[in-house]
Amino acid sequence: MTASSAAMKTIDSVELQPFRAAYAPADKPLVEALLKEAAGDPVTEKLIDQRARGYIEDMRSVQVGLGGVEDFMREFGLTTREGLAMMVLAEALLRVPDAKTADKLIEDKLAAARFDDPSGPKSDTWLVSASSWALGVTSRLLHPGDTPQSILSSLVKRMGMPTVRVATRKAMRLLGHQFVLGETIQKALERAKGQEAKGYRYSYDMLGEGARTAADAERYFKSYANAIEAIGKAAGDKKLPDRPGISVKLSALHPRYQAVNGERVRDELLPKLRELAQMARDRNLNFTIDAEEADRLEISLDVIAALLTDPVTEGWEGFGLAVQAYQKRGIHVIDWLVNAARKTNRRMMVRLVKGAYWDTEIKHAQENGAEGYPVFSRKAATDLSYLCCAKRMLAARDVLYPQFATHNALTVAQIIELAGGKAEGYEFQRLHGMGESLYKSVCERDGFPCRIYAPVGGHKDLLAYLVRRLLENGANSSFVTIVGDASVKVEDMLKRPVEVLDNGHHAVNRSIPMPKDLYGDSRRNSDGVEFGCAAERSELVTGMARTKAPFTEAGPLGKGLGTGGDANPVFAPMDGTTKVGTVRFADPETAKKAVEVAQKGFESWSRKPVETRAAALEKLGDLLEANRDRLMTILSMEAGKCLTDGIAEIREAVDFCRYYAAEARSLFGEGRLMPGPTGEEDRYRYRGRGVFVCISPWNFPLAIYLGQ
Ligand code: FAD
Ligand code: 2OP
Repeated sequence: MTASSAAMKTIDSVELQPFRAAYAPADKPLVEALLKEAAGDPVTEKLIDQRARGYIEDMRSVQVGLGGVEDFMREFGLTTREGLAMMVLAEALLRVPDAKTADKLIEDKLAAARFDDPSGPKSDTWLVSASSWALGVTSRLLHPGDTPQSILSSLVKRMGMPTVRVATRKAMRLLGHQFVLGETIQKALERAKGQEAKGYRYSYDMLGEGARTAADAERYFKSYANAIEAIGKAAGDKKLPDRPGISVKLSALHPRYQAVNGERVRDELLPKLRELAQMARDRNLNFTIDAEEADRLEISLDVIAALLTDPVTEGWEGFGLAVQAYQKRGIHVIDWLVNAARKTNRRMMVRLVKGAYWDTEIKHAQENGAEGYPVFSRKAATDLSYLCCAKRMLAARDVLYPQFATHNALTVAQIIELAGGKAEGYEFQRLHGMGESLYKSVCERDGFPCRIYAPVGGHKDLLAYLVRRLLENGANSSFVTIVGDASVKVEDMLKRPVEVLDNGHHAVNRSIPMPKDLYGDSRRNSDGVEFGCAAERSELVTGMARTKAPFTEAGPLGKGLGTGGDANPVFAPMDGTTKVGTVRFADPETAKKAVEVAQKGFESWSRKPVETRAAALEKLGDLLEANRDRLMTILSMEAGKCLTDGIAEIREAVDFCRYYAAEARSLFGEGRLMPGPTGEEDRYRYRGRGVFVCISPWNFPLAIYLGQ
């Protein structure tokens, strides 16, 4: 135990069960249960309609869009299309870490000659990203054939390169300014004063996440610590919840904040977090742990459990976390928290969000060959889950202070009416740069308290956050996008999840294939392991532990080759002493014979129908999966593979088998051969090339060797 972890005292008598729940259960039964729970009475539903309609109309009567963009466009005499194209370029530039490269990119992308050159590159995918295009301005502004590049091209002609360069730089600053309150905490605190005077509270977010190195993590830690001190100084003498706070991302605090590193997270990250929590506690601030990716949910709650049983949270009502309703486990997290708060005699703040990583979650599950998705696949299901979580949170206000973070007018109206129209014991939250017009009505006029989540930092750390905001602003399912589209009727925006989900029949988004079916009929995706799920991890590790030594006994394989020479011991590279197994080497005579045997095999194998060969490959893939635990053990013993790398290697091997089987069927399967240049079937192009010697690379002993 390290010195700092020894310092972590726990409440002796209280033990919290770790949070564990089905990671990615089927949608339908879950949605059916939530629908029952959410059923509202007609009187309340009517009140919700009235209230939401009012808010939507208020929002539509105010200009929405990026603040300051209008001035910017006036300054440079840009049309809306041009302004938008400029923003797209600015967004691309924000991805460039240093000024020199950014300058080069501007030169490159704005070079008028290249735009006009018909032989130049046709693709402008570097610029065209749906999210950027939709940056608070709908695509209806664009004409057919418009691309940012074509618009910028005519802009360069009209205004000249130097002006466009200046404008681009300004657009970058503007984009940052839109979503970031200030580059430093001092500037942010200063800029917050205006909104605070209107009754808003703040939660400052020091930009930075996903630390890659210990130095990154240390830098982010210092930035949080420095911010807490500054926020504390400026906090005044109001009481919680009417005090400012800070939002912290655990991924910023440790470069190995992953579920597989539970011990390091406990020994290294937890003491750091505790230090920050202690600082926030000393200043009686709101301290919120942001919700990040689904595979970090369990480990984040392990960390939170440790803090809830630590004296640091005793008698402090500002400690809290964010919970994502788009996760199928969201409702269980609320129950777990309520129970944990009661057991530890704590009162905590809980921010309910729908979730900002939806696209990432879907892709991650697909890439990972997961059983299912940890998040809902229909937005209405997320809205439904949000409502159920909210109900349970409002019912537990004795131990929770609910913080409802949303920019959706219907969601706001639902919460208010669920709470009996009163503003007691909870608050709303919005992001800096979003939801201004909604909260003008909800907070400034109607008096419901609202906290603004305000990112602080420089361009360098902005990108990940910015991309999430661009996706959120650009998605056509987003409330903020729809409310800006006057052609959408208010009635349509008032539709409840129950209408969309049709008793659970429409619980699943049919246009998103299950991860296993990602490749359609051609092949099955290989099985992965969700390392963020303790149950799956433990199944794998237990299976590996069951694999008995000796793990490998390698020697010549093939008819009549004999067993080879003496059995040489093979030791694991991790310590050089653990015996993995034995290897018997072949003498030159045996090697020669092996090639002959292989040659014979090749001849008969090549004559077999494509379907037989493809089916054999697929069977091999299935067998690799069936023997996963044993192969994992060998990979770890012999090549020093860690769990994630081992699984990735087995999956690669399995994918090879299924991919080549599918390709063989499609390229030269029954009836697939096309006439070649001589008019005969193109048999020669697609034929086996004979026997090869393949030396297995030490670092991919299974997949690369098998790939040959
Ligand atoms: P809506 O338009 O009603 O909902 C959009 C949301 O619906 C999407 O973001 C997504 O979650 C969900 N969704 C969209 N399409 C689908 C689909 N096909 N299937 C299922 N669900 C779908 N997010 C975090 O992840 N962690 C945080 O810690 C966090 N902190 C926040 C703090 C504040 C103050 C605020 C305002 C937001 C925070 N967010 C956080 C971001 C938040 O998740 C998004 O702003 C929120 O999802 C938008 O919801 P809405 O009600 O405003 O909009
Ligand atoms: C995000 O970083 C606001 O926490 C949320 O996207």
